[in-house]
Amino acid sequence: MISVPFFDLKRQFCSLRDEILEEIAAVCDSQAFILGPKVEMLEQSIASLCGGGCHAVGMSSGTDAELALLMGFGIGPGDAVVTSPFSFFATAGCIARLGAKPVFVDIDHDSLNLSPAGLEEFFRSDCVFEESGLRTKDGLPVKAVVPVHLFGLSCAMDEIQSLCAQFRLPVIEDAAQAIGAEYPSKDGLKRAGAIGECGFFSFYPTKNLGAFGDAGMALTKDAVIAAHLRVIRNHGMEPKYQHDVVGGNFRLDALQAAILLKKLPRLGAWSLRRWQIAQYYRREFRELEPMLRTPVEPFAKAAGERGHTYHQFVIRTDERDELREHLRLFGIGTEIYYPVPLHRQNCFAEMPAKPCPEAELSARQVLALPIFPELTDGEVEVVAARVSSFFKK
Ligand SMILES: Cc1ncc(COP(=O)(O)O)c(C=O)c1O
Repeated sequence: MISVPFFDLKRQFCSLRDEILEEIAAVCDSQAFILGPKVEMLEQSIASLCGGGCHAVGMSSGTDAELALLMGFGIGPGDAVVTSPFSFFATAGCIARLGAKPVFVDIDHDSLNLSPAGLEEFFRSDCVFEESGLRTKDGLPVKAVVPVHLFGLSCAMDEIQSLCAQFRLPVIEDAAQAIGAEYPSKDGLKRAGAIGECGFFSFYPTKNLGAFGDAGMALTKDAVIAAHLRVIRNHGMEPKYQHDVVGGNFRLDALQAAILLKKLPRLGAWSLRRWQIAQYYRREFRELEPMLRTPVEPFAKAAGERGHTYHQFVIRTDERDELREHLRLFGIGTEIYYPVPLHRQNCFAEMPAKPCPEAELSARQVLALPIFPELTDGEVEVVAARVSSFFKK
């Protein structure tokens, strides 16, 4: 019986071992570990990957990149920031850590991303738009919107951005899971994280571009914001030992940057392999609809394989837990992203939230199957066959 791991980082490392160890040795020889030329090279490479004249600022994690961006926009106690209830905790955690209230607007049924219709309803029915800006009905100033490009699929950004422009709100894209994804905007193809004004990536080891520890990157089209982010990531220090603002230690390590620079040229090929695996699953599962539903690919026509970078391949079924157990018995790894929507987390219990039925339904139905570039064709076939055998029982 062939078992298939949900993820196996060692396979990628084995294929790059010598090159990466050489890079690590070079950083060790330099004994320059924090920021420096490797971080600057990575920033330039990520900025050019994203295009559109964006600036990239290396950060210690995706979480810290979001935190720095929110701090850069002056978000603090008593503010409200709108986001998705169906994401990794960090998305909302950063908002709450600054003393602001995460306000959850439900997701779209098909894409699992923040619903533009829900956002419009929230702005028009639950907020008041005044000279000073948008306020919730309980008086909190709404300061930003953080849409999440979940699993590698961009949000409907044209709609989200046009709504946010009407209500004078900045958009901070949580592109932690979507590096390299393309979105066909009304102005042409754009890269996730750089579709709007600001965004951020995570280089957590299991991400499509993964470091050997925590690492992240903030992105912005605005040179002034970029300069401010560089100050915020270093305790707000500018010039040396002078602090006009309070920042944090959000600096990126040279070791992580050196490793990411070695991996970056492979990102396109790795994403393509993820796409090919996804297409195989989709073909094999077609006959299982509607018991099993595969991810939607609204941008495939316009952006091809870059329309979805498949950080995760997440199916939906009412028999999720039974299917998961069936696969476990055959040695096939799966994961649930995410079992508890953010508005249902105990730490937010004091903050009354509107119901988010789509997020709750998804939390009961979703199951992520193995999808990483080093999976063999044989393994992918085994996963698909075991999933099919469950439904044909
Ligand atoms: C959607 C989302 N947002 C934010 C983060 C936070 O990134 P990091 O783990 O690099 O802090 C992650 C990753 O874990 C994520 O998946």
